[in-house]
Amino acid sequence: MHAARREKQLGQHRVLRHGPEIAVSLVDPSLDRLPGYIAALEAGWSPNTTRDVSGEQLAAIRQDAGKFLCDLVEHENRIVTLVDGSRVPGLPGRVFWIWDGAFCGAINLRFVPGTLDLPPHVSGHLGYAVVPWKRRLGYATQALALLLPVARDLGLPRVLVTCDASNTASCRIIKTNGGIAAGSTPPPDQAGECKLLFWIDTAA
Ligand SMILES: CC(C)(COP(=O)(O)OP(=O)(O)OC[C@H]1O[C@@H](n2cnc3c(N)ncnc32)[C@H](O)[C@@H]1OP(=O)(O)O)[C@@H](O)C(=O)NCCC(=O)NCCS
Repeated sequence: MHAARREKQLGQHRVLRHGPEIAVSLVDPSLDRLPGYIAALEAGWSPNTTRDVSGEQLAAIRQDAGKFLCDLVEHENRIVTLVDGSRVPGLPGRVFWIWDGAFCGAINLRFVPGTLDLPPHVSGHLGYAVVPWKRRLGYATQALALLLPVARDLGLPRVLVTCDASNTASCRIIKTNGGIAAGSTPPPDQAGECKLLFWIDTAA
């Protein structure tokens, strides 16, 4: 989508659905902003949408807050625990906190350098989560719009974004940011649901 069109859509989105605009920014995780992140974890919010990591992250912060932040931003040197308990190396990427003057949520980008392909355990290039008390303010929609130029600057001409078919909010966020439907994945098991796939052009 052309940048002006995306901006127009976002502008309409803000005017029509959310009243006066409250702009958010993407900020680097930092010690001075950590109290807001801790408060969110203590309230049960999890930045990982496939697995509740609030407890383990709180424990890691209590042990060594500086190391926690380094590990959070240093994707490449991390070992990631998957839903099935298996442990795999993290991909390169970026993580940002969504900020409106206070902590609002997190958005991250992960990728394999030199290709748009992703390993089977990674469902898409992006993940995001907003704390419950800052939802429905247009923040995730803005955060995704702000992340796309970052992805472009990292060499990704487009990004694959996925969401559960029942996640109406996430579908809206992706479509408002120019997501082009690219089918769906079959449910991972009988209890799971299919994920919708979208490509978003980062250079638009
Ligand atoms: C999904 C999530 C990130 C949305 O964050 P948010 O900041 O509230 O989203 P926005 O305010 O930008 O809303 C985007 C759109 O979804 C709609 N929406 C938001 N929450 C909704 C809900 N619970 N039900 C239906 N629609 C919803 C908004 O009205 C808006 O629609 P519009 O574009 O037509 O105006 C947030 O609910 C969340 O963190 N959920 C848990 C984690 C998650 O699901 N992450 C996405 C994984 S793919």
